[in-house]
Amino acid sequence: MSQYDVLIIGSGAAGLTAALTLAPTLKVGVIAKGRMSEGATGWAQGGVAAVLEQGDSFESHVRDTMDAGAGLNNLGVVEHVVSEAPAAIARLAELGVPFNLDDDGASSVTGGWHLTREGGHSHRRIVHVADATGWAIQQALEQAAAAHPNVSLVPDMVAIDLVTGRHATEFTTSGAVHGLYAFNRATGRVETLLARATILATGGAGRAYLYSTAPRGATGDGIAMAWRAGCRISNMEFMQFHPTCLYHLEVKNFLITEAVRGEGGILKHPVTGHRFMPDYDARAELAPRDIVARAIDSEIKRDGLDYVHLDISHREPEFVKAHFPNIHEKLLGLGIDITQEPIPVVPAQHYTCGGVLVDIDGKTDAPGLYAAGEVTQSGLHGANRLASNSLLECFVFGEAAARHILAHLDDLPDIPDVQPWDESRVADSDEEVVIQQCWGEIRRFMWNFVGIVRTTKRLERAKHRIDLLRQEVADYYKHFRVTPDLIELRNLVEVADLIICSALSRHESRGLHYTLDYPELAAEALDTVLVP
Ligand code: FAD
Ligand code: SIN
Repeated sequence: MSQYDVLIIGSGAAGLTAALTLAPTLKVGVIAKGRMSEGATGWAQGGVAAVLEQGDSFESHVRDTMDAGAGLNNLGVVEHVVSEAPAAIARLAELGVPFNLDDDGASSVTGGWHLTREGGHSHRRIVHVADATGWAIQQALEQAAAAHPNVSLVPDMVAIDLVTGRHATEFTTSGAVHGLYAFNRATGRVETLLARATILATGGAGRAYLYSTAPRGATGDGIAMAWRAGCRISNMEFMQFHPTCLYHLEVKNFLITEAVRGEGGILKHPVTGHRFMPDYDARAELAPRDIVARAIDSEIKRDGLDYVHLDISHREPEFVKAHFPNIHEKLLGLGIDITQEPIPVVPAQHYTCGGVLVDIDGKTDAPGLYAAGEVTQSGLHGANRLASNSLLECFVFGEAAARHILAHLDDLPDIPDVQPWDESRVADSDEEVVIQQCWGEIRRFMWNFVGIVRTTKRLERAKHRIDLLRQEVADYYKHFRVTPDLIELRNLVEVADLIICSALSRHESRGLHYTLDYPELAAEALDTVLVP
């Protein structure tokens, strides 16, 4: 049994920002289910949105965020996050994140940084480190956390469930959270980790879908754990599909950043060469990504295509290589020279807009439990996230949760005596094949029935299947010792069910939720809130 002042589940932008804010005062444990840098943060390409350009304004960034969010954003939260953005970027620069500078070093931009442009933004607003911004941020945060004597970074520790009063030797139904049970990959044992406060920073649930740009570990563990611990989950129907994921038979989840379109990339029909985006939206390739993803989906379905083309080859080769060095190199290795030819692309799941309901301090419904980053529904994104607002949310809410803990340490629940994990009634599995089978089934029917364009009939088919799988997985979980794969599958069943139930309950098309049975917008914009 280990004990910390604060336990953070997740070592991406949200978790490490919280850790660095807490570290000067408290002992912090940060766990990751694999290596520390394996979350979505390290994969982020485009960058971080902030008002830094002369002529841009907080009002404009707020308006763009609210436009994308289709009426479901919380205005107070949006204003708060947008106004915190420049300071968050400055802190990252201080930590050593080498944001690209303007070519001429011009300082019309605060900090002299180069700003790129992405869909839905009415200004150049995205600071970046070429096309591998997330990796630079992850490295800087991780190095700072590793160097701090108060922070313990614990890789290969897979959280299974939150410890609540129900796990105390003196059973309580207070609903408070006191830490977690986690599977240690190194020892193969389940450990109990306790803390005064616990922060969920576990990222999204993209791997509920067959095609996703998200890393392998994005199985919605935090959302499922919070739900089982009694927290409300909100807006899970709003799954964001990125319009441009590389189409390649072997490389299935490589993102082609939106900044390629921001810097002039054009979407074309692969057979006719027709530039089709102006047929769908006046903003063409720079329309918000739900519109672009649906347009591509519609071209693909109408003409039976495998992909469409994204073409930036009309720009100077040196410009393309300088702005997109990683994409250029990666695709060259696959036989595609993006300076000379178009890139085959398809939409793929990319971001989970819904999640654990939190307030502006990152507080969840459970005393002692906070959440930050992609695992949450904070009110920032509404029905559709604006590009490059997500890392920003991690920085602002990671810090907010930490500050609230620091200010309210004495009010946090005391840690009771907790029962150790009980394995007395389970055996080693002799049927691992069940896990692979269920996992594959979920991801396929979620893609086909709960994807970019939905119908009630398809959602009901998905609901029927998830109910069957839920029983099967619960039975398996009852009889066999936990493994990382089983832990993830159990969570995938939970989040897939939450997505389907949320989608079924929304009788309108809004933002990312588009259904042929209810194509209109409802008069009133309401969040979906599921209560356990
Ligand atoms: P993550 O960075 O995903 O970290 C999750 C952490 O939780 C990991 O450490 C993981 O190991 C841990 N974890 C999960 N489950 C468990 C468990 N059961 N036990 C223990 N640990 C667990 N956003 C932008 O704003 N700009 C961009 O340019 C951008 N580009 C993107 C490109 C790609 C390819 C992808 C996939 C996303 C992109 N996004 C971008 C979105 C953004 O990267 C993510 O939303 C953000 O990084 C999420 O950070 P996070 O800290 O919430 O979680
Ligand atoms: C991208 O670089 O296109 C991703 C940006 C984002 O997801 O915010």
